[in-house]
Amino acid sequence: MIIGVGTDLVDFRRISRLLRAHPDSAIKKIMRPSEVQFYKGNIELGFSKIWAYKEAVIKAANKTVGFADIEIFHLDSGLSQIRIINDEQLREYASRVIGKHIGCGRLTYHATLTDELPYISAVCIIEIC
Ligand SMILES: CC(C)(COP(=O)(O)OP(=O)(O)OC[C@H]1O[C@@H](n2cnc3c(N)ncnc32)[C@H](O)[C@@H]1OP(=O)(O)O)[C@@H](O)C(=O)NCCC(=O)NCCS
Repeated sequence: MIIGVGTDLVDFRRISRLLRAHPDSAIKKIMRPSEVQFYKGNIELGFSKIWAYKEAVIKAANKTVGFADIEIFHLDSGLSQIRIINDEQLREYASRVIGKHIGCGRLTYHATLTDELPYISAVCIIEIC
């Protein structure tokens, strides 16, 4: 069953300006070390993509998770994956959405992203199975 759907569209130029204004604090607030490592070849693009992914996840989760709770990683094929580090509030929210306690029920996250610079768009679907 689908718990939530989120989408986000960012302007790469705006997000890059934000990063350039506060490079250390912005990266610390938005990205996890593994994400910085993955996008180290182009950190401005990576930062903007991570921003879009995470805003889509935050919307799908109805703001029960924040940037620091989300990790974006990739399979060898390139497919993006989502890991939620602290999903307590999200689980409570999911229980409310389906009208019963989800207990140890597995939350599954699907995410995808597309870019046609300067625009980057991400979509996230959260499912309980
Ligand atoms: C909720 C949030 C994701 C909305 O993003 P935004 O960039 O302000 O706005 P967008 O134009 O992308 O999206 C607006 C849509 O988000 C959706 N939205 C609003 N509140 C929401 C919520 N609590 N949960 C899920 N979706 C929500 C609505 O569909 C809204 O459409 P509407 O304007 O017709 O009502 C954002 O405000 C937020 O809280 N982000 C959390 C992270 C954060 O703190 N970011 C600040 C920078 S550090």
